[in-house]
Amino acid sequence: MKLLNLDHVAIAVHDLDTAIAGYADRYGVEPLYREVIETQGVEEAMIPVGGSFVQLLMPLGPETPVGRFLSKHGEGMHHIAFAVSSIDAALEHLKSRGARLVDEEPRPGGRGSRIAFVHPADLGGTLIELVELSGA
Ligand code: CO
Repeated sequence: MKLLNLDHVAIAVHDLDTAIAGYADRYGVEPLYREVIETQGVEEAMIPVGGSFVQLLMPLGPETPVGRFLSKHGEGMHHIAFAVSSIDAALEHLKSRGARLVDEEPRPGGRGSRIAFVHPADLGGTLIELVELSGA
């Protein structure tokens, strides 16, 4: 298990265009990628900040994980994501430690990545995403 860097901090928002405009106005930053990820029920925008990203997440509907998060908590920080060199090795390691996983197996993420989530109840009340970037 090796964490390469803090890939992104994800923020759940009601409206992606409004959030992107807000970041442009306040911080002078623009998204590098924007894509719909059907399997996660989100549209996401990735705003580069140094070597990491702010990931703005808008649910595709109320009955998606991010949709339910928004109705319960409102807008705000949703998860943090660590880049790993091998997501398979990372998941094996976490299973061997008895970690509570949301995803037992990797699934497709943005930018052609493979991702998996670790349950917030596992450590520090924080939803953690592991990302293996393609070509990493
Ligand atoms: Co993420």
